[in-house]
Order: sequence, then structure tokens, then C-alpha cells
Amino acid sequence: MTTHTKPGLRPANPNFSSGPCAKRPGWSVEALNAAALGRSHRAKIGKAKLEQAIELTRDILQVPAGYRIGIVPASDTGAVEMALWSLLGERGVDMVAWESFGSGWVTDVVKQLKLADVRKIEAGYGELPDLTKIDFDRDVVFTWNGTTSGVRVPNGDFIPADRRGLTVCDATSAAFAQRLDFEKLDVVTFSWQKVLGGEGAHGMLILSPRAVERLETYKPSWPLPKIFRLTSGGKLIEGIFKGETINTPSMLCVEDYLDALNWAKSTGGLDALIARADANAAVLDRFVGKSSWLGHLAGQPATRSNTSVCLSFTDPDVSALDADGQAAFAKGLVSVLDKEGVAYDIGAYRDAPPGLRIWCGATVETSDLEALLPWLDWAFAAQKASLKAAA
Ligand SMILES: Cc1ncc(COP(=O)(O)O)c(C=O)c1O
Repeated sequence: MTTHTKPGLRPANPNFSSGPCAKRPGWSVEALNAAALGRSHRAKIGKAKLEQAIELTRDILQVPAGYRIGIVPASDTGAVEMALWSLLGERGVDMVAWESFGSGWVTDVVKQLKLADVRKIEAGYGELPDLTKIDFDRDVVFTWNGTTSGVRVPNGDFIPADRRGLTVCDATSAAFAQRLDFEKLDVVTFSWQKVLGGEGAHGMLILSPRAVERLETYKPSWPLPKIFRLTSGGKLIEGIFKGETINTPSMLCVEDYLDALNWAKSTGGLDALIARADANAAVLDRFVGKSSWLGHLAGQPATRSNTSVCLSFTDPDVSALDADGQAAFAKGLVSVLDKEGVAYDIGAYRDAPPGLRIWCGATVETSDLEALLPWLDWAFAAQKASLKAAA
């Protein structure tokens, strides 16, 4: 259904970006009043807040007791890079990628680390690679939820419990919205700016006992900058996993992450967060099911993300355009919605096929997504009219 009549109702919060994501419902800067500002992060108060952030993360994500959780520099990218540089090279590695971020890790391992024994297991946008091809006696690097294609692994069943290699999982757009199977994961990373709507710059690095064992028994042949170093004298630097960060964190961002975690807990914890993301994704799925112009980029329903929902054009006139034409069409549609103040940052990622990407993580209110739907139809009709007029 398309309509030219401008809808009346607007989303109360038009923030549908895939990162930084919408703040939690009810957030205001007052939530940061108790921040330990102007104090050392090594002082009792700062250290206590960092420790609390780690413990609440453990509690909400249900991280097993034996796993270490550290706050590290440079957001999710920092956490992933630390893991790749510190752990890989002991054995061959299978790099599994199906969109831009996963492909970035492939590039790092092949072109920067220049590891000799690397296999690439890849698929294009919208698909998952054949996961049965992965050899878990090797190390394996993959992204749980491909933020730029909206394709995720459905669960951890493809990973054997008795693997000999390590699994390194970039889980930044999955953590707090999808159930991560920690027993199958040796390294899990994410950033604060994603599902809980925190701030950029800080990353989380979660290590299984087997990952720690690797760190303590294997020393890479390349130099490691201080910002990546997780061991000292061949032993894990345990302090990093108790709030003694490698360098100085922003205590304002820490306070904001604590606020997000406390909101997550008060909302009902992990189950409730997952349910919120699922309900949001279901709103879009129902819309797409009835739409004459929009379809899922992710081919298989079981692999469809409940956070970064990626949609492409199915309207015959639009899908007949070449990639540049479709990108221009998408840009026009996104810009109309932006100008109306009803949806910000919903264009597909720059390297992904043209279309829309609408964030459905836990901080987004279902009512806001519902209010957005008529606007999508309206903006599409307006763009289609200009396309016809130009033809
Ligand atoms: C899967 C994935 N990996 C890595 C990143 C980079 O995250 P950051 O900017 O927090 O380092 C993103 C950001 O969107 C992502 O979605």
C-alpha cells in the first residue's frame, strides 16, 4: 500500500540509527549526575564504578563465572583487534564473513597480520556462508550479527563444544538482543554504543578460560603496543578484568553505561531485552510481509537480525534501476524522512546493497516503529512520483 497523504502521527523518538543507537526510554543527561567526574579512575569511587559495570554486564548477559570481562579502549574495534593481535598465529584460522565488518576482520588478518594459514569462508550480503565448512580445530573469527546485512547466526549449534581452536566472536550488534552461547565462544566483544544505547569509545572484551590459557602459553612473533597488551611476564593482567583499565576511560561514559545496565535490569534483564528487539523486528516483518515495494535483504527467516534490520527494494520500477540509481532512490527516501524529523540514519550501510536499515534493538520503542510505518509508505510514494516524473 502506498499513499500520498502525509501521516499525522510521528515517532516520539526518530532515532533508528544502527549505532550509536537510541538512548534508553526516559534517558536524560540527569542520568549522569552521579558520574565520578574530575576524579581518578584509579580512585576508590572510579574503580568501584568500573567494577560495577563489569559485574552488571556479567549478570545481565549471563556470562559464565569462569569468564573474564574487561573494559578496553577503542570501542568494539579495539576489543576485536586486541583479540586478533594477541591470540592468532598459534594455529591456522578460518575467517568467516558475510558483510562489511566481518570482511574488515578478514582484511586485518590477511593483509596486516599476514598470517600464513588463513581460510576465508564467505558469503555475500543477505546470506550466511556454509557454516559446515568451518574447521573448529583451527581458530575461527566471525560476527554474530552482521550489522550491515542484517544476517545473524541463528544460534551457537554450529560450534562444537569440544573444539581445539578458539572462537573469536564480534557480537557488538547482538549482545543484549540475542542469546549468545558463551560455552561455545572463547572471545566475545561488543561496544557500549549499540543495543543499550550507550556512548562510543569503550569496548568490552570477554575471555573464556581457554582464551586465557592461550594468552598465557602463546606469545605472538609480532610486537604488541601497550594498548593491546593483556599479559605481563607471560601471565594475564588480571587487573584489566577487575576495572583496572589499561588507560584512562571516560567516567561520563562509564556512568552512562551503568545507567543503561540498570535500565536493562529494571526492564527484566536479558529475556526482556531480547523480547523487546523481537517485538520491534516483528513490526517491520509484518510491514514487509504486506509491502509491495520493500523486502528483507536476509533471505532466510532464521538468519534475520532482530536489531539491524536491512531492507531492499522489491518495487519493479526501483529494482530495475542499476545500483547507483537504487542508491540515489534510497538516499532521496531517507532524506525526506530525515527532513520531516520522523526517522534519522536509516540508509543502508555505505558498502551494503542500496536500501534501508532500521534499528530494532531494545532501546527502541515498538510504538515508535509502528508510527514510522505509514511514513515509509508516504516517503516511498513521494520518491516514486519523482522517479516517474523524471522518466
Ligand atoms: C559488527 C560490527 N563490528 C564492529 C563495529 C565497529 O564498532 P565500533 O565503532 O564500536 O568500534 C560495528 C559498528 O557498527 C559493527 O556493527
